[in-house]
Amino acid sequence: MIVLGIETSCDETAAAVVDGNGKILSQAILSQIAEHTPYGGIVPEIAARAHLAHLDRLITKAMDDAKVSYGDLDGIAATAGPGLIGGVLVGVMTAKAISAVHKIPFLAVNHLEGHALTARFTDNVAFPYLLLLVSGGHCQLLAVENVDRYRRLGTTIDDAAGEAFDKVAKMLGLGYPGGPAIERAARTGNAKRFAFPRPLKGKPGCDFSFSGLKTAVRQAAEAMPPGPLAEQDVADLAASFQTALVDAIAERVTRAVNIFRSDYPEGKTLVVAGGVAANTALRDVLVKTATTAGLAFAAPPPALCTDNAVMIAWAGIERLKLGLIDDLTFKARPRWPLDPTAPKAVGAGIKA
Ligand code: KG4
Ligand code: ZN
Repeated sequence: MIVLGIETSCDETAAAVVDGNGKILSQAILSQIAEHTPYGGIVPEIAARAHLAHLDRLITKAMDDAKVSYGDLDGIAATAGPGLIGGVLVGVMTAKAISAVHKIPFLAVNHLEGHALTARFTDNVAFPYLLLLVSGGHCQLLAVENVDRYRRLGTTIDDAAGEAFDKVAKMLGLGYPGGPAIERAARTGNAKRFAFPRPLKGKPGCDFSFSGLKTAVRQAAEAMPPGPLAEQDVADLAASFQTALVDAIAERVTRAVNIFRSDYPEGKTLVVAGGVAANTALRDVLVKTATTAGLAFAAPPPALCTDNAVMIAWAGIERLKLGLIDDLTFKARPRWPLDPTAPKAVGAGIKA
Protein backbone atom coordinates (compact mmCIF):
# COMPACT_ATOMS: atom_id res chain seq x y z
CA MET A 1 0.00 0.00 0.00
CA ILE A 2 1.46 3.39 -1.04
CA VAL A 3 -0.08 6.76 -0.19
CA LEU A 4 0.87 10.33 -1.08
CA GLY A 5 0.16 12.77 1.77
CA ILE A 6 -0.28 16.53 1.52
CA GLU A 7 -0.15 19.04 4.39
CA THR A 8 -1.05 22.73 3.93
CA SER A 9 -3.08 23.66 7.02
CA CYS A 10 -0.66 26.12 8.59
CA ASP A 11 2.76 27.45 7.61
CA GLU A 12 4.41 24.29 6.31
CA THR A 13 3.86 23.13 2.74
CA ALA A 14 4.62 19.42 2.65
CA ALA A 15 4.23 16.28 0.56
CA ALA A 16 5.35 12.75 1.47
CA VAL A 17 5.05 9.24 0.11
CA VAL A 18 4.66 6.52 2.74
CA ASP A 19 4.06 2.79 2.46
CA GLY A 20 1.72 0.54 4.43
CA ASN A 21 4.60 -1.01 6.38
CA GLY A 22 5.44 2.35 7.88
CA LYS A 23 8.35 3.29 5.62
CA ILE A 24 8.88 6.86 4.46
CA LEU A 25 9.64 6.63 0.74
CA SER A 26 10.14 10.39 0.42
CA GLN A 27 9.25 13.69 1.98
CA ALA A 28 9.50 17.26 0.80
CA ILE A 29 8.77 20.10 3.21
CA LEU A 30 9.00 23.86 2.89
CA SER A 31 8.67 26.11 5.90
CA GLN A 32 7.20 29.56 5.36
CA ILE A 33 8.71 30.95 8.55
CA ALA A 34 10.81 33.56 6.73
CA GLU A 35 7.70 34.93 4.99
CA HIS A 36 5.77 35.33 8.26
CA THR A 37 8.59 36.42 10.58
CA PRO A 38 8.32 40.16 9.78
CA TYR A 39 4.71 40.03 11.06
CA GLY A 40 5.50 38.13 14.29
CA GLY A 41 3.00 35.38 13.48
CA ILE A 42 1.26 33.60 10.63
CA VAL A 43 -0.61 35.74 8.10
CA PRO A 44 -3.29 33.48 6.55
CA GLU A 45 -3.29 35.17 3.12
CA ILE A 46 0.48 34.90 2.81
CA ALA A 47 0.29 31.24 3.87
CA ALA A 48 -2.39 30.38 1.29
CA ARG A 49 -0.48 32.06 -1.53
CA ALA A 50 2.77 30.36 -0.56
CA HIS A 51 1.07 26.93 -0.50
CA LEU A 52 -0.34 27.62 -3.96
CA ALA A 53 3.07 28.70 -5.26
CA HIS A 54 5.03 25.69 -3.97
CA LEU A 55 2.77 22.67 -3.50
CA ASP A 56 2.92 21.34 -7.09
CA ARG A 57 6.70 21.40 -7.09
CA LEU A 58 6.92 19.68 -3.70
CA ILE A 59 4.55 16.93 -4.82
CA THR A 60 6.61 16.35 -7.98
CA LYS A 61 9.76 16.19 -5.87
CA ALA A 62 8.21 13.74 -3.39
CA MET A 63 6.97 11.49 -6.22
CA ASP A 64 10.37 11.62 -8.01
CA ASP A 65 12.34 10.95 -4.82
CA ALA A 66 10.09 8.01 -3.96
CA LYS A 67 10.52 6.73 -7.53
CA VAL A 68 6.80 6.09 -7.87
CA SER A 69 4.26 7.15 -10.48
CA TYR A 70 0.63 8.06 -9.83
CA GLY A 71 -0.34 4.60 -11.06
CA ASP A 72 1.56 3.11 -8.09
CA LEU A 73 -0.47 5.03 -5.50
CA ASP A 74 -3.28 3.35 -3.57
CA GLY A 75 -4.51 6.62 -2.14
CA ILE A 76 -3.97 10.34 -1.93
CA ALA A 77 -4.43 11.91 1.48
CA ALA A 78 -4.68 15.62 2.22
CA THR A 79 -5.29 17.60 5.39
CA ALA A 80 -8.92 18.69 4.98
CA GLY A 81 -9.09 20.62 8.27
CA PRO A 82 -8.91 22.02 10.85
CA GLY A 83 -6.64 24.92 9.97
CA LEU A 84 -6.31 28.11 7.98
CA ILE A 85 -8.97 27.52 5.37
CA GLY A 86 -7.15 29.14 2.42
CA GLY A 87 -4.22 26.77 2.81
CA VAL A 88 -6.40 23.74 3.51
CA LEU A 89 -8.33 24.42 0.30
CA VAL A 90 -5.11 24.48 -1.74
CA GLY A 91 -4.17 21.01 -0.47
CA VAL A 92 -7.66 19.55 -0.80
CA MET A 93 -8.23 20.88 -4.34
CA THR A 94 -4.84 19.57 -5.45
CA ALA A 95 -5.48 16.12 -3.95
CA LYS A 96 -8.96 15.95 -5.46
CA ALA A 97 -7.59 16.89 -8.90
CA ILE A 98 -4.94 14.16 -8.73
CA SER A 99 -7.55 11.71 -7.45
CA ALA A 100 -9.96 12.53 -10.30
CA VAL A 101 -7.36 12.49 -13.07
CA HIS A 102 -5.55 9.31 -11.97
CA LYS A 103 -8.57 7.57 -10.42
CA ILE A 104 -6.91 7.18 -7.02
CA PRO A 105 -8.99 7.04 -3.80
CA PHE A 106 -9.12 10.41 -1.99
CA LEU A 107 -8.63 10.48 1.78
CA ALA A 108 -9.71 13.62 3.66
CA VAL A 109 -7.53 13.62 6.76
CA ASN A 110 -8.19 15.51 9.97
CA HIS A 111 -4.88 17.25 10.73
CA LEU A 112 -5.32 16.36 14.41
CA GLU A 113 -5.77 12.70 13.52
CA GLY A 114 -2.46 12.99 11.63
CA HIS A 115 -0.75 14.10 14.86
CA ALA A 116 -2.73 11.57 16.91
CA LEU A 117 -1.75 8.51 14.86
CA THR A 118 1.93 9.39 14.36
CA ALA A 119 2.95 7.31 17.40
CA ARG A 120 1.49 4.24 15.69
CA PHE A 121 3.71 4.96 12.71
CA THR A 122 6.86 5.53 14.79
CA ASP A 123 6.29 3.23 17.77
CA ASN A 124 3.57 0.84 16.72
CA VAL A 125 1.45 1.91 19.71
CA ALA A 126 -1.69 -0.21 20.14
CA PHE A 127 -5.19 1.19 20.74
CA PRO A 128 -6.39 2.44 23.15
CA TYR A 129 -3.85 5.02 24.31
CA LEU A 130 -3.88 8.32 26.14
CA LEU A 131 -2.80 11.25 23.98
CA LEU A 132 -1.62 14.70 24.93
CA LEU A 133 -1.97 16.73 21.75
CA VAL A 134 -0.10 20.00 22.11
CA SER A 135 0.36 22.27 19.11
CA GLY A 136 0.07 25.88 18.01
CA GLY A 137 -3.69 25.64 17.71
CA HIS A 138 -4.65 22.87 20.14
CA CYS A 139 -4.09 21.56 23.62
CA GLN A 140 -6.13 18.46 24.31
CA LEU A 141 -6.12 15.21 26.22
CA LEU A 142 -7.76 12.38 24.31
CA ALA A 143 -8.39 8.70 24.75
CA VAL A 144 -7.55 7.35 21.29
CA GLU A 145 -9.87 4.37 21.03
CA ASN A 146 -9.32 3.62 17.36
CA VAL A 147 -8.89 5.31 13.99
CA ASP A 148 -11.72 7.86 13.77
CA ARG A 149 -12.73 7.21 17.41
CA TYR A 150 -11.62 9.70 20.02
CA ARG A 151 -12.88 10.66 23.44
CA ARG A 152 -11.79 14.07 24.58
CA LEU A 153 -10.95 14.25 28.28
CA GLY A 154 -9.81 17.86 28.33
CA THR A 155 -9.06 20.89 26.21
CA THR A 156 -7.88 24.46 26.68
CA ILE A 157 -10.29 27.12 27.80
CA ASP A 158 -8.16 29.90 26.29
CA ASP A 159 -4.78 29.62 24.54
CA ALA A 160 -3.20 26.50 23.08
CA ALA A 161 0.17 25.52 24.60
CA GLY A 162 2.10 26.45 21.44
CA GLU A 163 0.21 29.72 21.24
CA ALA A 164 1.36 30.53 24.80
CA PHE A 165 4.96 29.79 23.80
CA ASP A 166 4.59 31.96 20.69
CA LYS A 167 2.98 34.90 22.53
CA VAL A 168 5.51 34.87 25.39
CA ALA A 169 8.38 34.64 22.90
CA LYS A 170 7.01 37.66 21.05
CA MET A 171 6.73 39.53 24.36
CA LEU A 172 10.37 38.75 25.14
CA GLY A 173 11.55 39.71 21.66
CA LEU A 174 12.54 36.14 20.81
CA GLY A 175 10.77 35.97 17.45
CA TYR A 176 8.61 33.34 15.77
CA PRO A 177 8.09 30.39 16.19
CA GLY A 178 8.28 30.90 19.90
CA GLY A 179 8.56 27.34 21.21
CA PRO A 180 12.07 26.53 19.99
CA ALA A 181 13.23 30.10 20.84
CA ILE A 182 11.93 29.87 24.44
CA GLU A 183 13.43 26.41 24.85
CA ARG A 184 16.83 27.71 23.67
CA ALA A 185 16.73 30.82 25.90
CA ALA A 186 15.56 28.76 28.89
CA ARG A 187 18.71 26.62 28.79
CA THR A 188 20.78 29.41 30.33
CA GLY A 189 17.99 30.73 32.55
CA ASN A 190 17.11 30.35 36.22
CA ALA A 191 13.70 28.65 36.36
CA LYS A 192 13.32 29.49 40.05
CA ARG A 193 13.71 33.25 39.69
CA PHE A 194 10.02 33.90 38.94
CA ALA A 195 7.23 32.00 40.70
CA PHE A 196 4.68 32.00 37.88
CA PRO A 197 1.20 30.53 38.44
CA ARG A 198 0.31 26.96 37.42
CA PRO A 199 -3.18 27.62 35.98
CA LEU A 200 -5.99 25.28 37.11
CA LYS A 201 -3.59 23.24 39.25
CA GLY A 202 -5.59 21.26 41.79
CA LYS A 203 -8.90 22.04 40.03
CA PRO A 204 -11.11 19.13 38.97
CA GLY A 205 -11.18 17.96 35.36
CA CYS A 206 -8.49 17.84 32.69
CA ASP A 207 -8.95 21.20 30.96
CA PHE A 208 -6.08 23.63 30.43
CA SER A 209 -5.64 27.38 30.73
CA PHE A 210 -2.57 29.43 29.87
CA SER A 211 -3.70 33.03 29.60
CA GLY A 212 -3.10 33.82 33.30
CA LEU A 213 0.44 32.48 33.01
CA LYS A 214 1.05 34.60 29.93
CA THR A 215 -0.20 37.69 31.77
CA ALA A 216 2.07 36.93 34.74
CA VAL A 217 5.09 36.79 32.42
CA ARG A 218 4.08 40.11 30.86
CA GLN A 219 3.74 41.73 34.27
CA ALA A 220 7.14 40.41 35.38
CA ALA A 221 8.75 41.71 32.17
CA GLU A 222 7.08 45.11 32.62
CA ALA A 223 8.33 45.32 36.21
CA MET A 224 11.94 45.22 34.96
CA PRO A 225 13.94 48.45 34.68
CA PRO A 226 12.95 50.50 31.60
CA GLY A 227 14.68 49.78 28.30
CA PRO A 228 15.36 46.51 26.51
CA LEU A 229 15.43 43.38 28.68
CA ALA A 230 18.90 42.07 29.55
CA GLU A 231 19.80 38.71 28.03
CA GLN A 232 19.89 37.02 31.45
CA ASP A 233 16.46 38.44 32.36
CA VAL A 234 15.02 37.04 29.13
CA ALA A 235 16.60 33.66 29.86
CA ASP A 236 15.23 33.63 33.43
CA LEU A 237 11.74 34.67 32.27
CA ALA A 238 11.81 31.99 29.55
CA ALA A 239 13.00 29.28 31.95
CA SER A 240 10.48 30.22 34.67
CA PHE A 241 7.65 30.35 32.10
CA GLN A 242 8.58 27.00 30.53
CA THR A 243 8.81 25.32 33.93
CA ALA A 244 5.41 26.66 35.01
CA LEU A 245 3.76 25.62 31.75
CA VAL A 246 5.27 22.14 31.78
CA ASP A 247 4.36 21.70 35.43
CA ALA A 248 0.76 22.80 34.77
CA ILE A 249 0.47 20.40 31.83
CA ALA A 250 1.92 17.51 33.85
CA GLU A 251 -0.69 18.02 36.56
CA ARG A 252 -3.54 17.89 34.03
CA VAL A 253 -2.01 14.81 32.39
CA THR A 254 -1.85 13.04 35.77
CA ARG A 255 -5.59 13.59 36.17
CA ALA A 256 -6.26 12.25 32.68
CA VAL A 257 -4.05 9.22 33.39
CA ASN A 258 -6.29 8.34 36.34
CA ILE A 259 -9.43 8.49 34.17
CA PHE A 260 -7.71 6.58 31.38
CA ARG A 261 -6.50 3.78 33.65
CA SER A 262 -9.92 3.25 35.14
CA ASP A 263 -11.91 3.51 31.87
CA TYR A 264 -9.39 1.72 29.62
CA PRO A 265 -7.67 -0.94 31.77
CA GLU A 266 -6.24 -2.53 28.61
CA GLY A 267 -4.53 0.75 27.63
CA LYS A 268 -0.78 0.77 28.13
CA THR A 269 0.69 3.95 26.69
CA LEU A 270 0.87 7.70 27.16
CA VAL A 271 1.61 9.45 23.87
CA VAL A 272 2.51 13.08 23.21
CA ALA A 273 2.13 14.65 19.78
CA GLY A 274 1.96 18.03 18.04
CA GLY A 275 4.57 20.76 17.67
CA VAL A 276 5.04 21.42 21.41
CA ALA A 277 5.87 17.72 21.86
CA ALA A 278 9.26 18.67 20.40
CA ASN A 279 9.99 20.39 23.74
CA THR A 280 12.57 18.46 25.77
CA ALA A 281 11.47 19.77 29.17
CA LEU A 282 7.91 18.61 28.47
CA ARG A 283 9.05 15.22 27.22
CA ASP A 284 11.22 14.69 30.32
CA VAL A 285 8.33 15.44 32.68
CA LEU A 286 5.93 13.21 30.73
CA VAL A 287 8.34 10.29 30.90
CA LYS A 288 8.21 10.59 34.70
CA THR A 289 4.41 10.94 34.70
CA ALA A 290 4.04 7.81 32.56
CA THR A 291 6.53 5.81 34.61
CA THR A 292 4.80 6.71 37.87
CA ALA A 293 1.49 5.59 36.38
CA GLY A 294 2.94 2.33 35.09
CA LEU A 295 2.38 3.35 31.48
CA ALA A 296 4.81 3.19 28.58
CA PHE A 297 5.65 6.54 26.99
CA ALA A 298 5.90 7.30 23.29
CA ALA A 299 6.86 10.55 21.60
CA PRO A 300 7.60 10.79 17.88
CA PRO A 301 10.94 12.35 16.90
CA PRO A 302 10.66 16.18 16.86
CA ALA A 303 10.52 16.38 13.04
CA LEU A 304 7.38 14.22 13.10
CA CYS A 305 5.86 16.22 15.98
CA THR A 306 5.79 19.51 14.11
CA ASP A 307 3.59 19.70 11.02
CA ASN A 308 4.59 17.33 8.23
CA ALA A 309 3.05 15.31 5.42
CA VAL A 310 4.29 11.91 6.61
CA MET A 311 1.67 11.95 9.37
CA ILE A 312 -1.04 12.81 6.85
CA ALA A 313 0.01 10.00 4.50
CA TRP A 314 0.11 7.59 7.47
CA ALA A 315 -3.34 8.63 8.72
CA GLY A 316 -4.48 8.11 5.11
CA ILE A 317 -3.03 4.58 5.18
CA GLU A 318 -4.76 3.79 8.47
CA ARG A 319 -8.06 5.03 7.03
CA LEU A 320 -7.57 3.26 3.71
CA LYS A 321 -6.93 -0.03 5.55
CA LEU A 322 -10.41 0.38 7.11
CA GLY A 323 -12.01 1.40 3.82
CA LEU A 324 -12.64 4.97 5.04
CA ILE A 325 -12.37 6.55 1.59
CA ASP A 326 -13.87 9.99 0.98
CA ASP A 327 -15.97 11.39 -1.77
CA LEU A 328 -14.70 14.22 -3.99
CA THR A 329 -17.61 16.31 -2.67
CA PHE A 330 -15.94 16.37 0.77
CA LYS A 331 -15.71 20.01 1.91
CA ALA A 332 -12.64 21.40 3.70
CA ARG A 333 -13.42 22.19 7.34
CA PRO A 334 -11.87 25.15 9.17
CA ARG A 335 -13.04 23.52 12.43
CA TRP A 336 -13.12 19.77 12.85
CA PRO A 337 -13.04 18.35 16.38
CA LEU A 338 -11.79 14.78 16.81
CA ASP A 339 -14.54 14.17 19.34
CA PRO A 340 -17.62 16.07 18.12
CA THR A 341 -19.61 14.95 21.18
CA ALA A 342 -17.18 16.43 23.72
CA PRO A 343 -18.70 19.00 26.05
CA LYS A 344 -17.37 22.54 25.90
CA ALA A 345 -14.42 23.15 28.19
CA VAL A 346 -15.61 24.65 31.42
CA GLY A 347 -12.32 24.79 33.28
CA ALA A 348 -13.74 24.16 36.72
CA GLY A 349 -16.19 27.04 36.65
CA ILE A 350 -13.97 29.51 34.84
CA LYS A 351 -15.82 30.86 31.81
CA ALA A 352 -14.51 29.63 28.45
O1 KG4 B 1 1.90 21.05 15.30
P1 KG4 B 1 2.53 22.32 14.85
O2 KG4 B 1 3.76 22.25 13.99
O3 KG4 B 1 1.49 23.23 14.11
C1 KG4 B 1 0.15 23.28 14.49
O4 KG4 B 1 -0.63 22.39 14.05
O5 KG4 B 1 -0.16 24.18 15.29
O6 KG4 B 1 2.85 23.18 16.17
C2 KG4 B 1 3.45 24.44 16.09
C3 KG4 B 1 3.65 24.96 17.50
C4 KG4 B 1 4.14 26.39 17.56
O7 KG4 B 1 3.34 27.10 18.48
C5 KG4 B 1 5.57 26.25 18.06
O8 KG4 B 1 6.01 27.37 18.82
C6 KG4 B 1 5.47 25.00 18.91
O9 KG4 B 1 4.62 24.15 18.19
N1 KG4 B 1 6.79 24.36 19.09
C7 KG4 B 1 7.39 24.22 20.29
C8 KG4 B 1 8.65 23.64 20.05
N2 KG4 B 1 8.76 23.42 18.69
C9 KG4 B 1 7.60 23.86 18.14
N3 KG4 B 1 6.98 24.57 21.53
C10 KG4 B 1 7.82 24.33 22.55
N4 KG4 B 1 9.06 23.79 22.39
C11 KG4 B 1 9.51 23.43 21.17
N5 KG4 B 1 10.72 22.90 21.03
ZN1 ZN C 1 -0.17 20.55 13.67
